[in-house]
Amino acid sequence: MSKVDQLKRVEVAALQDLSVGIGKRVNVSGEEIALFKQKGGTVSAIQNSCPHKGGPLSEGIVSGEHVFCPLHDWKINMKDGQVQAPDVGCVKKYEVEIVGEKVYIFVD
Ligand code: FES
Repeated sequence: MSKVDQLKRVEVAALQDLSVGIGKRVNVSGEEIALFKQKGGTVSAIQNSCPHKGGPLSEGIVSGEHVFCPLHDWKINMKDGQVQAPDVGCVKKYEVEIVGEKVYIFVD
């Protein structure tokens, strides 16, 4: 069994509700998650809490595949959750599946 097989698939949004360049916050089983639609129609999902001091990443400025935390401007890659140098750390990243117009993520 792969790891994804053991996770729960949850519908979190409709593709049409997401806009490229603007994050959307959703709450799944008590976890706050930030969704970001990428050019080309893919969607990234990361923990909505900056590893620095908990800034809400869904409200950050988006640049390509990165989001800048709205509090102190840490730069985080939305695809792998890694904080970019010179800062260090990472946020949890969620697997995303898009079926038709529906966006699903996989949670524990
Ligand atoms: S809380 Fe995100 S950079 Fe400080």
